[in-house]
Formats: sequence, structure tokens, C-alpha cells
Amino acid sequence: MSRTLALITAKGGSGKSTIAILLADALASEGRKVLLIDADPQGSVSQWFKTAAARRDRPTNIDVARATSETELSALLGQVSGHDDRIIDVPGVADKSLIVAANAADLIIIPARVGAFDAAQAIRTAAALAAVARSQGRIMAPYRLVMNGVNIVDLRGVALREVQRLMIESKIPVLSAYFAERGIFKTFVSGFGSLAKTQASVRSVSEARRNVREVMEELGLLQSASGADS
Ligand SMILES: Nc1ncnc2c1ncn2[C@@H]1O[C@H](COP(=O)(O)OP(=O)(O)OP(=O)(O)O)[C@@H](O)[C@H]1O
Ligand SMILES: [Mg+2]
Repeated sequence: MSRTLALITAKGGSGKSTIAILLADALASEGRKVLLIDADPQGSVSQWFKTAAARRDRPTNIDVARATSETELSALLGQVSGHDDRIIDVPGVADKSLIVAANAADLIIIPARVGAFDAAQAIRTAAALAAVARSQGRIMAPYRLVMNGVNIVDLRGVALREVQRLMIESKIPVLSAYFAERGIFKTFVSGFGSLAKTQASVRSVSEARRNVREVMEELGLLQSASGADS
């Protein structure tokens, strides 16, 4: 089944591009053909892909397409691409491309850092997308909020619990799985090959991979129970 996932939030730096790349890599490693759509003028996803290619370390099964305006994004999404999954990365500002991406998505993923302002912005993004969908007589695609960059301080203190409470109160579907803050995620998105295919002898790699799979499992993105990390 072909799917379109969109990473959306109007808050900059929340991890959209990082998560888009991590999901693309994990899905591609399962043999799915993935189209990563870079709709952010910053071009982070394109930069990752180019750097990996220059290092001759480009993951297989992933194509990247760039859309520099919402018109280009609409046109791109209207084409049949022959990919199993399309993953859209948008800019971290309120921009029309967020609405175009949300309209095309089967699942909207809203990343947020642990913090009251970030959580509030994530909630506002979900509400704004729902309002636009209503005004256009459409039903908004299902969405899930995922906490990103969670560190030991967030886990020890009240911040994570407080944010999750705020989400639940606002009836925001927040995942219990989250992306931890990991140096390996940062390294990987700088253009180093495939996290999913790297030899898992290093603990930080296998933990990072397990982390990605936990989130994917809760999002219902895993095809099979196989591929348990080594
Ligand atoms: N889980 C994580 N662990 C460690 N570093 C992370 C993690 N998630 C994101 N980062 C780092 O945080 C920074 C911002 O992440 P990213 O560029 O993915 O966010 P973004 O939402 O796409 O930002 P923008 O809105 O500017 O497009 C990057 O330097 C990235 O490497
Ligand atoms: Mg980005």
C-alpha cells in the first residue's frame, strides 16, 4: 500500500527534517521505495542526500525531490511517482506548503521538543490544520504528536510529564514512544549513509535504531515484526 506521511509543525528546529530522514531510511531498509519530498527552502533533506552521495554513502531505495513553492509541491504530489512511501518535509514556519502537505497526507506527524512553548505551538499547528480542513469541507488526516530530542534532564524532571499532560488535556494524540536526543541522529543526518543498515555492533547505533522502530511501531508504520534489532 502506498502512503504519504507529512512532518508538519510551524515551530522551527523541532526535528521535522531529522525524523523525515530517519523514517525514510528505516522504510527503505525494509525494501520500500521512498520518495522524500523536500518542501523547505532551507533544503536540509536535499543537503543530507547530496552529502551522502558525495561520500558514496547514499542509501538505496530513496529518491529526493525538491519543491520550492506550494505550487510546485502541489504539482509534485499530484504526480504518480511509483514509490511505496512519500515523506514530506516542510519549513518550520506558518506557510501554505504546510496545508498542501497536510491535504496530501495519510498521516501527519507533528514533532515537538519537550517544553511548554514547543508543545503549545504543536497544538496550535494541529488546530490550525483542522480549522483549514473544516473550512474546505475536508476531513483532516489522522495526526500524531511525537516528542523529539528528549534528554535525561527531561526524563528526570517534570517537563516531559507536564507536556504530555497538557497534550492529553487538549485531546492531542501524543505517542508514548519518543525520539531521544542522540548524537548518532545528528551524525547520520549530516550525510552518513544508512542508520538502518550500519553494523549494529556499536551500542549507540543499535539503540538509535531500536528507538526509531519503537516510534514507527506506535505510528503503525512497520510492515512486519521482523527486523528486530541486533
Ligand atoms: N533526536 C535528536 N537528537 C539529536 N539531535 C537532534 C535530534 N532531532 C533533531 N536534532 C538536531 O536539532 C537540529 C534541528 O533539527 P531539524 O533540522 O531536524 O529540525 P527541523 O524541524 O527540520 O528544523 P526547521 O524548522 O529549521 O526545518 C539539527 O541540528 C538536528 O541535527
Ligand atoms: Mg527542517
